[in-house]
Amino acid sequence: MNYLTINGGKRLSGRVQISGAKNSALKLMAASLLGHGTTVLTNVPRISDVFTMIEVLQRLGAGVSFEDNTLRIDTSGEISTIAPYDLVRRMRASINVLGPLLARSGHARVAMPGGCNIGNRTIDMHEAGLTQLGVRFTFDHGYLEGIADRLVGKKLVLDFPSRGATENLMTAAVLAEGVTVIENAAREPDIVDLASFLNAMGAQVWGAGTSTIEITGVGRMSSTEYQVSADPIEAGTFALAVLATGGDAELAGAQPETMEIFLEKLALSGAEWAPTESGIRVKCERRPRAVDFATLPYPGFPTDLQPQMMAFLVSAEGTSIVTENVFENRFAHTQELVRMGADIRTEGHHAVIRGVPGLQGAPVKGSDLRAGAALVVAALGAEGTTEVHDFHHVERGYEDFAGKLRSLGADVELMVETTSLQV
Ligand code: UD1
Repeated sequence: MNYLTINGGKRLSGRVQISGAKNSALKLMAASLLGHGTTVLTNVPRISDVFTMIEVLQRLGAGVSFEDNTLRIDTSGEISTIAPYDLVRRMRASINVLGPLLARSGHARVAMPGGCNIGNRTIDMHEAGLTQLGVRFTFDHGYLEGIADRLVGKKLVLDFPSRGATENLMTAAVLAEGVTVIENAAREPDIVDLASFLNAMGAQVWGAGTSTIEITGVGRMSSTEYQVSADPIEAGTFALAVLATGGDAELAGAQPETMEIFLEKLALSGAEWAPTESGIRVKCERRPRAVDFATLPYPGFPTDLQPQMMAFLVSAEGTSIVTENVFENRFAHTQELVRMGADIRTEGHHAVIRGVPGLQGAPVKGSDLRAGAALVVAALGAEGTTEVHDFHHVERGYEDFAGKLRSLGADVELMVETTSLQV
């Protein structure tokens, strides 16, 4: 188990390269199962979730090699249709193999992903939509098994613009007979990436990035080469890390058009940002002002930046009100921020942050990926030393986080936890 030590109070400056998006790379990897050849994905982040998805694909029978940031996935051989629990439980995105396996083989047996630290994440919308396309599901011993003699396109309306459900329906529908229309579809940039990737493989997908996606099924798909887009959540996290220290830095590769509401909120806090030739520059020369925000599906404020934004606002001037609308239990980081001196009260899905002049370093624990990242943001601006424990959660989604922070001037070190016998 790793933990990160941070000696706070160092002003971050310079330039950092933003990696490819975790949430795009994982979906493209799963969708590569639709081809019968070698998929080449470039700009893939070297993060533990990608290594888990590599294991999933290998277990299914794909040949995978990963050098630097280029991933090669060979799906020309026989592909198994069983995704076992020991892998699926490590990463919910493993459920993204469901659509491609059903489309390719007419069968999938996938372990139910189960709960996680940020809330009760069911897959009822995935199941309902796929059932309408012709899949018959049974559930036994913790596994969801789907069988489809043929998939037939339909008009589907989602109760909520779920990303995972939108993706599984898209990847099943690309090989279905006829036309599928997904209404109230998720609009995140990774959905656009997935559609472009599928189209490069020979699919016919229109409307990704809007609430209505239309897919005309094709007979067969080939493998292709594709570059993963920059990660807006990593870019947002680095922006907040820089701003929490009163710093000034360029986030190379960041795409401001995928981060509009976030950047608007930054500007309201008094931080400055501007597009550059290769990304975004952010700086903050004064204490930030309080800002209210509410998370919503894209293009709303991303829930995956809520904890880090809170970590920035805890030392703002005034009171901020945060509303979490996507997950019912995504305030675990607040108690740890309070241990560092923050003043936060939560009530249901609202949090009230009364800004304090500064935080103090403390040993803290990140209970999930973005909670851990938020504690790092807070620690960078705090006085003294912070240890962020359970850092493996952060390693799921940030490539070389410590090294990139160091390149901006942070004093951080990755440590290996040694367990001591308690008597
Ligand atoms: C994805 C992202 C995750 C992000 C989340 C919300 C990946 C790998 N993960 O997760 O980082 O935090 O979007 O932007 O891309 N829901 C249902 N039934 C379903 C599906 C979803 O009730 O069948 C609910 C969930 O419990 C949750 C909400 O819908 O409250 C959003 O879920 P969804 O958009 O599906 O998130 P994921 O795809 O799991």
